[in-house]
Amino acid sequence: MNIGIDRLSFHTSNYFVDLKTLAKARSVDAEKYYVGIGQEKMGIPSPDEDVVTLAASAAYPLMQDGELDDVELLLFATECGIDQSKAAGIYVHGLLEMSARCRTVELKQACYSGTAGLQFAIGFVARNPDKKALVITSDIARYELGSPGEATQGCGAVAMLISANPRLVAIEPESGYYTDDVMDFWRPNYRSEALVDGKYSTRVYIHALLESWKQYAEESGRALDDFDRFCYHIPFTKMAEKAHQKLARKLGIPIEKKEMQALLEESLRYSRLTGNCYSASMYVGLTSLLDTSEEDLAGKRIGLYSYGSGCVAEFFSGVIQSGYREFLYTEQHRNLLENRIELTYQQYEDIFNYGVPTDGGEYVFPQYKTGPFRFSGISQHKREYESLVD
Ligand code: CAA
Repeated sequence: MNIGIDRLSFHTSNYFVDLKTLAKARSVDAEKYYVGIGQEKMGIPSPDEDVVTLAASAAYPLMQDGELDDVELLLFATECGIDQSKAAGIYVHGLLEMSARCRTVELKQACYSGTAGLQFAIGFVARNPDKKALVITSDIARYELGSPGEATQGCGAVAMLISANPRLVAIEPESGYYTDDVMDFWRPNYRSEALVDGKYSTRVYIHALLESWKQYAEESGRALDDFDRFCYHIPFTKMAEKAHQKLARKLGIPIEKKEMQALLEESLRYSRLTGNCYSASMYVGLTSLLDTSEEDLAGKRIGLYSYGSGCVAEFFSGVIQSGYREFLYTEQHRNLLENRIELTYQQYEDIFNYGVPTDGGEYVFPQYKTGPFRFSGISQHKREYESLVD
């Protein structure tokens, strides 16, 4: 029995900053961002958007299509937890009016936790083939103003329905995974911006890739040329390209730029426009690949590399199913990305400095353009969400 991704829906904020604007404010050559790190825009969440509203908005098309009726497991992956006790997924469960017969849990391991969620969900479906799981990855990447990481900020969420006989991607059983206790990127509870040892983090990302690949290759017996496409975790698109080059070189098959683009480029298109989405990043890449590839990818094998600082990494693979195009939300994703509102530098800095109040007071937040749901305020220490749809 095949198990894997049956539906895939992506959401990001309606606001963005063009990295040319940021480059001007930081007196940096814009080519450093556009070419050097391979990013063009960064998605900026409005003050009434958070990981819950991004996640619920990503899953909303599935609700509209009646796809959530058989879901009995909701796994919410994020590194932007909003509460030390309550799972953010429970708010999403409520907004999406899901059945009470559901296990709901939040998962954390930096940008890797969505992949843990996917693998746990596959285990659940293997035991309950007539049931489905909803895995949502949702994050807001935030670094200090003026820091090297600033230009890689972004936000987004991906909702994935996991089932038997999936209509999009069957996940193969072989997997290489790797854990190491390193401090390349972390965010202590008292900080709202991540701390990062940037250059070191890129080296750990690559080392963990080589280790994960080694185990995957031993287990599966596959070589790089058994893959038609690759989807990497994408903190910035250049990172994915560099990682693939390193892997190919390590295996003694150096790769030309053109050949690499054919393997990776479609998966990088959305991320170039949204910025890093942490736990959602690789899945934004997968959505981008499925949505934008002109070639019919049915029957093609894709290699997936998930990396979460700290660190945990996993290399695994999936096979794209025939007829997959009928079940994508390509049009919605295109509309979302094309109709975003550009922020000036000052608007960006004002939103950045706004922050969710932490003084325990009563707040009603101004209404910005969001998806179908918004974070409307705080009352009696409780976050309040509003549905903008009937
Ligand atoms: N035109 C073209 N290219 C230019 C340029 C110009 N005018 N100026 C600079 N460049 C190039 C540089 O040559 C460099 O390319 P190479 O790496 O190929 O040499 C590239 O632009 C970046 O320049 P710098 O190395 O000088 O950039 P930086 O040090 O200011 O920042 C960074 C890079 C440290 C990775 C920073 O973006 C950062 O800290 N990012 C956050 C951490 C991160 O994303 N790490 C990734 C691995 S960890 C992970 O994946 C988990 C996660 O999601 C965070």
